Amino acid sequence: MTTREEREQAIREAGYNTFLTRSRDTYIDLLTDSGTAAMSDKQWAGLMLGDEAYSGSENFFHLEAVIREYYGYKHLVPTHQGRGAEHLMSQILIEPGDYVPGNMYFTTTRLHQELAGGTFVDVIVDEAHDPMSTFQFKGNVDISKLDRLVQEVGAKRVPYISLEGNVNMAGGQPFSMANLRELHSYCRKHDIPIMLDATRTMENAWFIREREDGYADKSVREILREICDFTDGCTMSAKKDLLVNIGGFFACNDDELFRRAQNLVVVYEGLHTYGGLTGRDMEAMTQGVREAATEDHQVARIGQVRYLGENLQRAGIPIVTPIGSHAIFIDVRRFLPHVDQDEYPAQALAAEFFIESGIRTMERGNVSAGRDPETGKNRRPALELVRLAIPRRVYTQAHMDVVTESVIDVYKRRDEIRGLKMVYEPEYLRFFQARFEPIT
Ligand SMILES: Cc1ncc(COP(=O)(O)O)c(C=O)c1O
Repeated sequence: MTTREEREQAIREAGYNTFLTRSRDTYIDLLTDSGTAAMSDKQWAGLMLGDEAYSGSENFFHLEAVIREYYGYKHLVPTHQGRGAEHLMSQILIEPGDYVPGNMYFTTTRLHQELAGGTFVDVIVDEAHDPMSTFQFKGNVDISKLDRLVQEVGAKRVPYISLEGNVNMAGGQPFSMANLRELHSYCRKHDIPIMLDATRTMENAWFIREREDGYADKSVREILREICDFTDGCTMSAKKDLLVNIGGFFACNDDELFRRAQNLVVVYEGLHTYGGLTGRDMEAMTQGVREAATEDHQVARIGQVRYLGENLQRAGIPIVTPIGSHAIFIDVRRFLPHVDQDEYPAQALAAEFFIESGIRTMERGNVSAGRDPETGKNRRPALELVRLAIPRRVYTQAHMDVVTESVIDVYKRRDEIRGLKMVYEPEYLRFFQARFEPIT
């Protein structure tokens, strides 16, 4: 545990950006749930089975078999992590001038769409942009928004719809099976593929089981398979659902698409049977698929996030509702109503949490949303949030209690908190490396 003075110095040196702080200065690390899971004994045992042959590693075939079994896709191309898969898919499917609809943007996903010449169009339901709405399926696609786009630009200019499970930027919010079914029939009619961002789709499956009529007796595994059967392929950051510290993949059913992805992966990632991973990484991922699909794991995982969220709610802290699966999102518009969005209130609040107790969180608001490429202005998204992401199988409820107390302490002195000005802004994904100074 560091002292307050040490943390003040650390965050100043990090330009008030938690991504630039050191892990050794962090007490409880809620920066991300990505790659931060504790691997199980069986996953560690899997590391000892690494077949590190350059080509045709046994571990690739194990992974391919488990993806076919659980996700149901015919073809698999491993990548080093999710954005590697997003890069391949965007380069293969998007032509300059295309429009890519999605149920809210994700930072790396949208950037790869833009780098391929596409324009992202948000077609998520309105409720997703309202942190106080308690709608149970805020990850749903608004089919009328999608139809408006298709009517306007023509289905030929829409290479696919990007559908994310448990939408990260909306607060970890699921889509329903009923919505996916409707989307599927719309997309079939217009010949538009559905490409899933499967990163947290096991957790989405859990919410369907819990909330949607007719699913209470189905297993996470069965629901996952039903979701995937409505889609044409996926990108995956295995660092979340699949309980590994590194890894990802692209998967699809179409033979020609697979051939192109398999060819492109050798340019950017590595041979098509390892895609930037070691054999042992693929073995750990194979085991992670099996563990993530168990009800026991999801009950513990989602239950822990809910425990923190309900504690914060009881204390009157404004958070995004319903409570999602991977993180608690603090609604900074209500926490710091006196700070203008162009003074980056969520960035400032994340820095305050770090100073208060060494808890590392991250901004999900105006900094993450970036600039509108046409106007060059900040996008000023409706959601200005700080994300407290919970790593899987790492912390205890006692840690969650410390987090609750720290958030309450900061809330009590919220009127003193001021905004920040950005003094360095990198070209891509600015939230990772931008630097700030307090406004005096
Ligand atoms: C929804 C979603 N998609 C894609 C990614 C990108 O994955 P990765 O960080 O493995 O490149 C992430 C992770 O941050 C994510 O949360």
